[in-house]
Amino acid sequence: MEMIKIPKREAAWRCPSNIALVKYWGKKGPQIPANASLSFTLADLYTETKLLLTDQANVIEVFLDGVHRPDFEPKIYDFCRRIADLLPWLGSHGLKIETHNNFPHSSGIASSASGLGALALCLAELDACIKETPMDFMLASNLARLGSGSACRSISGAAAMWGEHPDYPGSSDYYAISVDHLLHEQFQGWMDAVMLVETGSKSVSSTQGHALLQEHPYAQSRFQEANRNMSRLKQILLEGNIWAFAELVESEALQLHAMMMCSTPSYMLMQPGTLSIIRKVREFREQSGIPVVFTLDAGANVHVLFPGQHRSYLGETLFPNLEKACEGGKYICSSIGAGVKTLT
Ligand code: PMV
Repeated sequence: MEMIKIPKREAAWRCPSNIALVKYWGKKGPQIPANASLSFTLADLYTETKLLLTDQANVIEVFLDGVHRPDFEPKIYDFCRRIADLLPWLGSHGLKIETHNNFPHSSGIASSASGLGALALCLAELDACIKETPMDFMLASNLARLGSGSACRSISGAAAMWGEHPDYPGSSDYYAISVDHLLHEQFQGWMDAVMLVETGSKSVSSTQGHALLQEHPYAQSRFQEANRNMSRLKQILLEGNIWAFAELVESEALQLHAMMMCSTPSYMLMQPGTLSIIRKVREFREQSGIPVVFTLDAGANVHVLFPGQHRSYLGETLFPNLEKACEGGKYICSSIGAGVKTLT
């Protein structure tokens, strides 16, 4: 094998998490989405990762908050196998990964998007050094996708979309693109209050959830509806129609969970607290006229999206009421915005 000269062995990046508005749920092939999806990037909920390339081929070590975590390593071995064709130099090296999430590990906030995103950025930087080219963020997004599909949307944008779609020029099944230019000023400065209904790991992982779409009786109509929602959402974002936004985003969240409830075997990730928060968010929106909008990822926690100027008012009125349904009465607030940053 030709020896590739490695000019740089260390890279460190911060990568934020993201929350989907139109959901990716179901795959066509290895990490190819069955429909397009669009998300907001959560700038204040991020992972910071330092990657060191070692000479011990195929030896991977992961440290979370300074503690060796062999339980994380199989997922990274798997990831390295998937990206081997894209980074041919990787096979003759080992990886030492030091990682840290700025949100509590057991919060129930998925760290796979930010974690795989940060690792992908480190690898893309080392690759750019080897090739003596500028950092390729498209490659970083492609690598992140191969680790965890939704992670590819964390690399760019306050808003990012992934999956080929006729209404989004330049869109691809392989990487995400920023769609910040679509955001009307009504959607500038929004925030996300994540209501932590259930902390700890989920009963059905998203890998298992995606797989259950294969034999799902409603899969094809869901994929079509998601792609139609992508067209509608583009119009809504351009026009700044916050009420249509609320309707579409909430319907998407409920469709995701409806798909879980009619999989075989069927399952439910929402908890009583999830439903109580959903009801209170809708009541508050009707009574106050303030656009608070809920969405869900594949878990019981509720993301409450709102324009940032209402933060302190909501902190005195709505949020204390929602907190009651949260484990330990906790929620975490993040602004929506790009958050990728090199740390070296
Ligand atoms: O990226 P994955 O394979 O963990 O799937 C994520 C799926 C959802 O979070 C439920 C939806 C999405 O588009 O982020």
